[in-house]
Amino acid sequence: MSWSFNFFVHIVLFGLTTSVVVASFILHRQIITEKSWEKKLLLSGLIRIFSRFVPFNAVLLLVTGFGNMMNRYGTNAQWPSEEWLSIKVVLFVILAANGLYLAPHLGLKRNMLIKSVIEGSGPADADQQIVKQNFSITALFIVQMILLLSILFLSVYGSGKHPGMF
Ligand code: HEM
Repeated sequence: MSWSFNFFVHIVLFGLTTSVVVASFILHRQIITEKSWEKKLLLSGLIRIFSRFVPFNAVLLLVTGFGNMMNRYGTNAQWPSEEWLSIKVVLFVILAANGLYLAPHLGLKRNMLIKSVIEGSGPADADQQIVKQNFSITALFIVQMILLLSILFLSVYGSGKHPGMF
């Protein structure tokens, strides 16, 4: 029996990435239902703590992903060797770009709106503005979940390691 520490870390990082997305989504749903602006701010702060994992996850998934490629094809293999992997890498780049740029940008904007309301300097239509912002963030979460599930499907289906039941 052989095993790869690199592959083990890759799978752990997959779990960590999924946990960050799911935990942040649950907190985001709480922000939507929560009436108190102070509690909204607290929940938004918690999401920002989770989001600190994102750069590490993205870099380490990429590094261990390349490690998997070396284990799978050897060091002299030509890129791209398999279609599922090329598609997976493109989806990964979109997922990472959304997680590293778009998500923090939308989160910060909402955080500033909540803070301004608490400090009494918020806009008159703050309630409508936060509904719009929440809608954009929900849409982004749905996109990220679809990307993550597609990457998982491609990894399991494409790598062709599992006999399967169907
Ligand atoms: C969010 C990003 C990623 C997730 C969730 C993910 C998830 C996974 C999972 C669950 C497997 C195991 C599949 C199986 O054993 O059936 C896997 C394998 C693999 N991943 Fe990733 N991965 C990600 C990013 C990457 C990247 C960026 C690369 C390449 C640069 C990569 C390259 C590979 C390769 C080559 C394998 C197959 C390993 C083998 O068959 O020995 N992954 N990935």
